[in-house]
Amino acid sequence: MKEKIEQLLQQIEQFKFTDKEALENFRLKFLSKKGLIPALFADFKSVAPEDRKEMGLLLNELKNKAQDYLKTNQEALEQQTTTAASTLDVTLPSGHFKGGRHPLSIVRKEINSIFERLGFVISEGPEIEDDFHNFSALNFPPEHPARDMQDTFFIHKNPDIALRTHTSSVQVRVMEQGKLPVRIIAPGRVFRNEAISARAHCIFHQIEGLYIDKEVSFADLKQTLYYFAQEFFGKKTRIRFRPSYFPFTETSAEMDVSCNICGGKGCNICKYSGWVEILGCGMVDPNVLEACGIDSNEYTGFAFGMGIERITMMKYQINDLRLFFENDIRFLQQFEQIQ
Ligand code: DAH
Repeated sequence: MKEKIEQLLQQIEQFKFTDKEALENFRLKFLSKKGLIPALFADFKSVAPEDRKEMGLLLNELKNKAQDYLKTNQEALEQQTTTAASTLDVTLPSGHFKGGRHPLSIVRKEINSIFERLGFVISEGPEIEDDFHNFSALNFPPEHPARDMQDTFFIHKNPDIALRTHTSSVQVRVMEQGKLPVRIIAPGRVFRNEAISARAHCIFHQIEGLYIDKEVSFADLKQTLYYFAQEFFGKKTRIRFRPSYFPFTETSAEMDVSCNICGGKGCNICKYSGWVEILGCGMVDPNVLEACGIDSNEYTGFAFGMGIERITMMKYQINDLRLFFENDIRFLQQFEQIQ
């Protein structure tokens, strides 16, 4: 009996579990009702009473071992098949999921290149700003609501350090350097404590423009932005200016473009007015020039700022701003062809 047990043990240890069929063969051979191990149990009757204790132990050990073997090899085989199924099939044709540019990147690049053709250069500034660059130098009075906790993300509740609320802060950084004339555009990310909806987000993108030289006038501002609107929205585009207010410009205006969907006839995009507002602009306030060390008797300038999301939505007729940040491949793939 002892010998038989040892033989079987050896056979079990050497058994090759190559596939599912082998598992079943193992079960039939050793563990099934008519298998070798139950047969040994049947022989147990003939074992001498004094040997029974030892044989019983050995027999049970053998049975447990066979069952453990079957179980672990079964699990290992199952795992092998699932990994094989999820492994990349390198024989599949490639090129199906081609990467593309994000719509906001496409539009930012296009705006940059339009202004570069007019001689503007690209400037960048930090996303974490101090009060001076984001507000004070831009002529924001101390009690201005934009400085409020409700609108601005402060860092560690420090009232002096915040995430920039607009790219106008880059104007200050450039003017401070004191190299004149200035002709820059500054694309970048901005942050405001806003509830997220189809029309607003707490993170969005702007492009700022600044031109400072001797004898820069509002006519220069108009011509520059007219060129931009025609290049970006098409030759038939018209523009109009409405008086507005910004702390850092005087005179201030908002610019509308004729609706690129209906051509100005009126539709639900332009709320049947034929016009859509796209940016804020104006002549740089002399207080701002002086705060940045520029003589406002000698120099004048214009500035403008626009939201990239807004004009991207207009251009591509996107109706929900959240789509830009969700990384849904079905949305992003629609821009795959555009460089
Ligand atoms: N900074 C303004 C904003 O965040 C946009 C703006 C308006 C920028 C007028 C300008 C400007 O440079 O002249 O809404």
